[in-house]
Amino acid sequence: MTDALPAGCRLIRLAVKGDHRGSLIAIEGEHDLPFAIARVYCVYATTEGTVRGMHAHRQLDQLVIAVAGSCTMMLDDGQRRVEVRLDDPAVGLLMGSMIWHEMSDFSDNCVLMVLASAVYDEADYIRDYATFKALAKT
Ligand code: TYD
Repeated sequence: MTDALPAGCRLIRLAVKGDHRGSLIAIEGEHDLPFAIARVYCVYATTEGTVRGMHAHRQLDQLVIAVAGSCTMMLDDGQRRVEVRLDDPAVGLLMGSMIWHEMSDFSDNCVLMVLASAVYDEADYIRDYATFKALAKT
């Protein structure tokens, strides 16, 4: 069993419309998610042994889905760390702001799709762990 996720993070089950042709998942911002979708990005073709992420966001909500394959997401709220294996396209990880996160152990075929509440803004990133820890305390 996965330990309780940090505040602001939760796994959500997505409705699968399946029939004899296969499966389809639809996600509507504000309806299925607690935010409007401003950006979609994908992480794929990850090289062996890679660790990605290694940052927190000052103000950004995201939904992370392993639409193919699997990877491990480590979530750190400044107090404790929890790992979640993402391996099901029908399960999304909602991740709020001020969560240091690292993705690792990518399967060869892993495709992560991420829906984000804002467009890309480097100023929203905290890329230094000591800075994150200090801000997380306040
Ligand atoms: P990076 O933040 O290093 O990715 P990860 O968090 O997966 O380790 O981003 C890789 C590059 O892509 C970097 O040059 C910034 C750019 N980028 C965008 O242009 N737009 C985006 O939405 C994202 C997430 C990254």
